[in-house]
Amino acid sequence: MDRERAKEILSQVDDAASGQPVASEVRKKVVKILNQVPSYNWVGIYLVRQAELHLDAWSGPAATVHTSIPIGKGVCGFAAKSGRTEIVSDVSKDPRYLECFANTKSEIVVPILHQGKVVGEMDIDSDELNAHTSVDREFLEAVASKISKFCA
Ligand code: SME
Repeated sequence: MDRERAKEILSQVDDAASGQPVASEVRKKVVKILNQVPSYNWVGIYLVRQAELHLDAWSGPAATVHTSIPIGKGVCGFAAKSGRTEIVSDVSKDPRYLECFANTKSEIVVPILHQGKVVGEMDIDSDELNAHTSVDREFLEAVASKISKFCA
């Protein structure tokens, strides 16, 4: 992800979030927008419901079996618990990793915070090793803050 591309995509997210949109529609649009990035092969938004993450919207080649993940479990559950972004550059080396797709090589999970609480997260799987850098982290954290009110 380069900074120019990140800027363009952020403005598409702004468009999706402008006016008085229906929250679930914004979430659906955002996963599609992010899935355009070549290395973002599967993009999902999970929402926190009680002590679990529930898959809300996704875009990618296949559905995941992990539609519900306990907080604290997997990379997703870990990030939801800590409230911090997790970058896993090689999923085969991370014992927390819950496999969804055989071709996934790396993953980034970005919590979505609303009024200081984790209300959801974005999970992005890549078919490339080391796909996500600090630019992806900054970019996706900016997306998370733009959409947080649509995830609360
Ligand atoms: N890999 C995640 C589970 C979600 S799937 O990637 C869609 C994890 O380790 O929590």
